[in-house]
Amino acid sequence: MTAINSDIRDPGLAATGRERIEWAWQEMPVLQELMHRFSESRPLQGMRMSGCLHITTETANLARTLKSAGADLVLCASNPLSTQDDVAAALVEEFGIPVYAIRGESTELYYQHINAALDHQPVITMDDGADLVSTIHKSRRELIPTMRGGTEETTTGVIRLRAMAQQGALEFPILAVNDAMTKHLFDNRYGTGQSALDGVIRATNILLAGKTFVVVGYGWCGRGIAMRAKGHGAHVVITEVDPLRALEASMDGYRVMPLREAARIANFIITATGDKHVVDQSHLEVMNDGCVLANSGHFNVEINIPALEAMSVSHHRPRPSVDEYTLADGRRLRLLAEGRLVNLAAAEGHPSAVMDMSFANQVLCAVYLAGRQEKLENTVHRVPLNIDQQVARLKLTAMQLEIDSLTEEQAHYLASWQEGT
Ligand code: ADE
Repeated sequence: MTAINSDIRDPGLAATGRERIEWAWQEMPVLQELMHRFSESRPLQGMRMSGCLHITTETANLARTLKSAGADLVLCASNPLSTQDDVAAALVEEFGIPVYAIRGESTELYYQHINAALDHQPVITMDDGADLVSTIHKSRRELIPTMRGGTEETTTGVIRLRAMAQQGALEFPILAVNDAMTKHLFDNRYGTGQSALDGVIRATNILLAGKTFVVVGYGWCGRGIAMRAKGHGAHVVITEVDPLRALEASMDGYRVMPLREAARIANFIITATGDKHVVDQSHLEVMNDGCVLANSGHFNVEINIPALEAMSVSHHRPRPSVDEYTLADGRRLRLLAEGRLVNLAAAEGHPSAVMDMSFANQVLCAVYLAGRQEKLENTVHRVPLNIDQQVARLKLTAMQLEIDSLTEEQAHYLASWQEGT
């Protein structure tokens, strides 16, 4: 019987959840090392923390590591459709970590869960999408005076928080975990590359080879998706608003064109921009019959779903995670995972081996916030470089990869300017 406060689908799922969490753990050697190190020194002893994260096997291993380091942690979901209910059950029943998350929860329940996590009175928040920080600033302001700071996992969250900081509205410091190199170069690129395609394939089981696959946005996530779609034999088209990224996409070997043209030839369109209505009514109007639409960004705003609904005469769900909309002219457009992040809603999110690095950054940033005597300035900070390098070294060691180091002569040469031809 559950003794701790929580709101989960079914405690009876705990045994399955535990098996899957242990499976993921084997792919997370950096977290294993940090757990080993910190279960003795306990740098987070008694720190009240609230995490608003996707409740997955990887997050469960992050939570176990934080708890071993002494943290007093509660979790809630960072998306209504990404919770793995068996993992939530195992966290509560097997690991004694309170969780407020039920897959498919309504928006109302989602925010009730965020507030339940904030009732824990955290001094450190861990966000994936900035919902804890934004709720604290809007309606839980009593928590602000005792906050040491927060961490932010994802690009969209960092964008929101930077906007807050720029407007002078951010009232405690944030570490932008997303911007650590050991995070975005691997998680956003290889993690999204694999898991977004996994979501599209699990949802549709449609062959990608020979199809026209449009990727909207060529940031790190878009780069990863494009790379993996190309590997499947799709004809990949990139659409961008940034001239440098568009140029890079072109020289990486992709066709580049405006979305209004790409929409006419696409069999698949996947968004990875962090922005609103990038796939809009004008694009929906020209798409081919059968076009598959998916989003890989954090929020379900990238595809204009209200416009799609308004244009359609009927819709049905031929498979889980697929809604097929029939338009007045007979064309059918297929929306995956209700426009929510397809990698977590239609698959299991990024593989454990990349989350290992992202979450090692989270642990080390929490330890950094907890250990500081003076509070950081109330703005969005970069992850300290030594944390990034530590994570890279630990990962290399775990992968049994050795690298060279500079000789004294080489170090001296790099630090001097007199020597030339
Ligand atoms: N974000 C993307 N993939 C994830 C995963 N597997 N766990 C937690 N957060 C994620």
